[in-house]
Amino acid sequence: MRLHVVDHPLVAHKLTTLRDKRTDSATFRRLADELVTLLAYEATRDVRTEQVDIETPVTATSGVKLSHPRPLVVPILRAGLGMLDGMVRLLPTAEVGFLGMIRNEETLEASTYATRMPEDLSGRQVYVLDPMLATGGTLVAAIQELIKRGADDVTAVVLLAAPEGVEVMERELAGTPVTVVTASVDERLNENGYIVPGLGDAGDRMYGSA
Ligand code: URA
Repeated sequence: MRLHVVDHPLVAHKLTTLRDKRTDSATFRRLADELVTLLAYEATRDVRTEQVDIETPVTATSGVKLSHPRPLVVPILRAGLGMLDGMVRLLPTAEVGFLGMIRNEETLEASTYATRMPEDLSGRQVYVLDPMLATGGTLVAAIQELIKRGADDVTAVVLLAAPEGVEVMERELAGTPVTVVTASVDERLNENGYIVPGLGDAGDRMYGSA
């Protein structure tokens, strides 16, 4: 597994406002969307392209276009949905699948309640969206499902990660073609499974249900 922490002043600026508990839901959603687009720029550095011939108004030349099969973007419901627009803005040809996963707040175990994506992901590049890599349980389960379906290149885009979650991913997904792109690896997880300093419950803050 590869870990890529995006070090950029605009990323740090947006993340600081997301962390601030005074930031309201509308602002939180807008900033999360902008932050995802910045992370998406890094996350798609190895997106596959193919050569095409075109003509400019001046001459014939060649360039590149995103290749087939199309990349698949999979937001993990609920909070990953708030990252979808920011991602597909940069990948307009992508197909979108959905994974509904919830973690039990006592055991911190992840379980799947909805799946909507192609059965066969052979040869596909997949981008999984989940704002918080906390214990790692949800992302590991999601990525194992994608690899089981044949995905041969998976990139998880997360706003924030805890070192504990990164360690679990490294252990459970050792030897798999997985990259994690994040704005920050924070200090730690607390006893309730929240990232510290973190930003609280990403879904609640996005959808105003706190
Ligand atoms: N999920 C969240 O929304 N926040 C955390 O800090 C950890 C998991």
